[in-house]
Amino acid sequence: MNQSNLFYKTFNGKKILITGHTGFKGSWLTSWLSLMGANITGLALDPITSPSHFDEINLEKKINDIRIDIRDHKKINTIINDIKPDFIFHLAAQALVKESLNNPRDTWETNVIGTINLLDSCRNLSNHCTVVLITSDKCYKNSEWIWGYRETDILGGSDPYSGSKAATELAIYSYLKSYFNNNSKVRISIGRAGNVIGGGDWSNDRIIPDIITAWNKKKEVKIRNPHSTRPWQHVLEPLSGYLCLAMNLNEGLKIHGEPFNFGPNDKYNYTVLDVANTMSIHWKGGKWVNASNTSFNNESGLLKLNCDKAMELLKWNATLTFEETIKLTVNWYKDYFKNELNTQTITNSQISEYEKIAKERNLNWAQVH
Ligand SMILES: NC(=O)c1ccc[n+]([C@@H]2O[C@H](COP(=O)([O-])OP(=O)(O)OC[C@H]3O[C@@H](n4cnc5c(N)ncnc54)[C@H](O)[C@@H]3O)[C@@H](O)[C@H]2O)c1
Repeated sequence: MNQSNLFYKTFNGKKILITGHTGFKGSWLTSWLSLMGANITGLALDPITSPSHFDEINLEKKINDIRIDIRDHKKINTIINDIKPDFIFHLAAQALVKESLNNPRDTWETNVIGTINLLDSCRNLSNHCTVVLITSDKCYKNSEWIWGYRETDILGGSDPYSGSKAATELAIYSYLKSYFNNNSKVRISIGRAGNVIGGGDWSNDRIIPDIITAWNKKKEVKIRNPHSTRPWQHVLEPLSGYLCLAMNLNEGLKIHGEPFNFGPNDKYNYTVLDVANTMSIHWKGGKWVNASNTSFNNESGLLKLNCDKAMELLKWNATLTFEETIKLTVNWYKDYFKNELNTQTITNSQISEYEKIAKERNLNWAQVH
């Protein structure tokens, strides 16, 4: 374990509040910050999948694990002002488009009012606090462009999830302009990233868990949208971006109030078919069948992010190639099903591996200073 890169220096011993710690991204972030020796409070609802990555990494007893609804302003206010965190990472959200179509009201309340509750509680803080708010690449109005979206592009969203994330950004802006100026003790920045993959994702209707679950039962998997493309990135990639954001924001005012995109390096688009093929290299005997009724790519709406701002101001870029992203993901599930190591060990060793690769590739945050 490399315990002396810039992240360890920044977050070791610090009081950190993570909202949404029981979710997919939140559980990886909790693992990573826990390795850095941070003093963590997590605030979320119970995990919704079984198995769940958070339950299996066994951190409940090592952190202050609070299960409450982010919509409960009174309780959120009490917790934040009791803890007086040095850093807040706000990830709690209703994060699924399909669920947002079934329950639009709950999605809007959780995502918009939940963020407002957090910001409102921060108004009362008397200590210095650095806040990173997580929205989504879906906050952009999708104009079907072929080039990457920049942070200055128009916001919008045509489903309740995307719309709520765009609205969250407007709420944040109004709080920034009204209550958190450059003299404020609270500094705020926003992270926008796209879909992530990685070990420990057990959600329904997601391509990686679907493939792994079928292959583990030695079944062929049916690929329904083989030609769909996505900006595939490993969960640790945007997390390293959020951590870079918090580190830089904590050091200076320059990026206070600024949103940042965090997306993959690849210049090429990879399809679901590329994912299944690459996964089958690492999972021997993994087979799939094309279950689509069309042989051409008629998909529209892929949204790519331009990450020049993160590169320029944070010296951040993604670490892994597409092949490495898939390999790391498949290896996590292979180790999991082998049942020789506990889940916490598997996750921690992948974090260690990621830090090592980032250091070899000269990522600024991964260097020992
Ligand atoms: N996973 C992705 O591909 C992706 C892509 C873009 C943006 N994001 C954003 O990143 C963040 C984390 O996403 P994720 O994939 O880990 O989501 P997830 O669904 O796995 O986890 C969501 C977390 O939020 C908590 N939560 C939900 N409703 C809550 C409520 N009412 N009160 C308190 N806590 C509540 C859940 O308990 C859970 O801990 C979200 O803001 C999401 O919109 C995720």
